[in-house]
Amino acid sequence: MLKKEENELLTRVGPGTPGGEMLRRYWQPAALSVELPPGGPPVPLRLLGEGLVMFRDQEGRLGLLGLHCSHRGADLSYGRLEDGGIRCLYHGWLYDVEGRCLEQPGEPAGSTFHDRIRHPAYRCHEVAGVIFTYMGPGEPPLFPNYELFRVPDDNRWVHKQYHECSYLQGNEGNIDSIHVRFLHRYLPGSRFRRSRELDGEGRPARPFDESLPSSASRCEETHFGVRIYSLHDTHAATYMRTTNFVIPLTCAVPGGPAPPGDGYLMNWHVPIDDTHHWRFSMAFKRSGPLDPNYAQARASVTDETFRSPRNKANRYLQDREEQKHDTYAGMGPIFVVQDAFATETAGEIQDRSREHLAASDAGLAAARRMMLRAIKDVQEDRDPPHVIRRPEDQDRLLEISVTSEQVPVGTTWEQYRVQRGVTFGAIGIED
Ligand code: FES
Ligand SMILES: [Fe+2]
Repeated sequence: MLKKEENELLTRVGPGTPGGEMLRRYWQPAALSVELPPGGPPVPLRLLGEGLVMFRDQEGRLGLLGLHCSHRGADLSYGRLEDGGIRCLYHGWLYDVEGRCLEQPGEPAGSTFHDRIRHPAYRCHEVAGVIFTYMGPGEPPLFPNYELFRVPDDNRWVHKQYHECSYLQGNEGNIDSIHVRFLHRYLPGSRFRRSRELDGEGRPARPFDESLPSSASRCEETHFGVRIYSLHDTHAATYMRTTNFVIPLTCAVPGGPAPPGDGYLMNWHVPIDDTHHWRFSMAFKRSGPLDPNYAQARASVTDETFRSPRNKANRYLQDREEQKHDTYAGMGPIFVVQDAFATETAGEIQDRSREHLAASDAGLAAARRMMLRAIKDVQEDRDPPHVIRRPEDQDRLLEISVTSEQVPVGTTWEQYRVQRGVTFGAIGIED
C-alpha cells in the first residue's frame, strides 16, 4: 500500500513533477528504428507528457524536438525535411537536430533573431533497432551496455505495444512474479500448449498445468534495482524464478524466443503521459540467430499502430469456452494480452492506497521504495541509482540475472542464491 501522495509522486510524469524529473535522468526507448526509415517522414510522438517530433535529417542524423514550433506553435511533424533540418510549414523557420533555429526566412535580411531561439531538443541514441532518448538536464549518463545490446542483430527481437494505463502498473506486472502461475496458465490438454513437453533433461518444461502451487518470494537490492527470487512448489517439483527490476521502468524476466538457458526478455514501460504507456519489449538469444517466424508471429499481435485488437474496449475478446479448456484467462495464448487485462483494468492510475500487498509482493514494495528514494535523490541534486557515469560501470550489467528452472525439492532461496552466486547468467525456460 502507498500513501496517496506517494502514489502521485510515482505516477505523475509530466515536466516539473518530481516523478517525471526522476524518470528524465535515464535513457529511455522513444521509438523503433522501423518507424524512422531513412528518407521517411517525421513522426509525432508523445513521451512523458510532452509532445515531440522525431525525424532524420538529410544526413540521417536523428532529431527529437518539441512538437510545437517556437514561432507560433504549428505542429512541426507536418514540416519539410530539407536544408539540414526540419522546416515549419507555417512561416518556414528551419531547425536542426540540436534545436538550433537556422533560418527565419520571413525576417528582415541580416536579422540575428534566429540565433536567440533554442527549440527544445533531446539527445538520441540508436542501438539494436531502438531509438533511445535522454530527456533530462545536463550531460546524459553513459548508455547502459546490457547483454541484449551486445549480441548480433539477428539474435535479437524488439517490438512495442500500446497500453492504456500508467507505466507503473505495466512495470509492476513484470516485478510481480507469482502472477505467471495464474494469469498465464495453460490448462491440461490445452491446444495452445507447446509440443515440447519436456526439457533437455526430461523435466517438465512448462509447469503451468500443475495444480496451483504454493510460492515464496524474496528480494535483494542491487546497484541496478531489485533482484527477485520466486520459489514455486508444485506437487511434482520445485521451481526457482529470478527476475530483476531495473530502475526506473524496466524489468528483465524469463521469456522471448530463445530456448531454455539461452537468453531473456527486457520490458521497458515508457510513459506516453500519466495514463498511457508504451511497452518496449526486447529479447535476445545468445547462441545464434532467432527464428524469423517468431518476430512475424509476435508482430501480428498488434496492428500497424502497435495496438492490440484485443483491448479493454472489447474486454480483450475473452472467451469463456476457451477458459474451460485451454487457458486460465480465456484471452488467447499471448501473454502480453493477458498482462494488458491485468494492468489496465486496475484503472488508468491504480489507487494504491486501497490495495493490500501480500508476502509475494515483497519485490514490488522494494522497487517502490527504491523509486521514492530516487525521486528524493533528484530533488536533492544527486544522481539516482543506476545513472551510469563511469565506463567500468557500463559493463557490470551482466549481474542482471534471469532464471527459471527446476531445483531440488526443498531448496531455499538462500541456498539457491549461494549456489548461483550474484553474477550468474540467464538460464530461463519460460516464454
Ligand atoms: S509557426 Fe512555425 S514558422 Fe511560424
Ligand atoms: Fe505477465
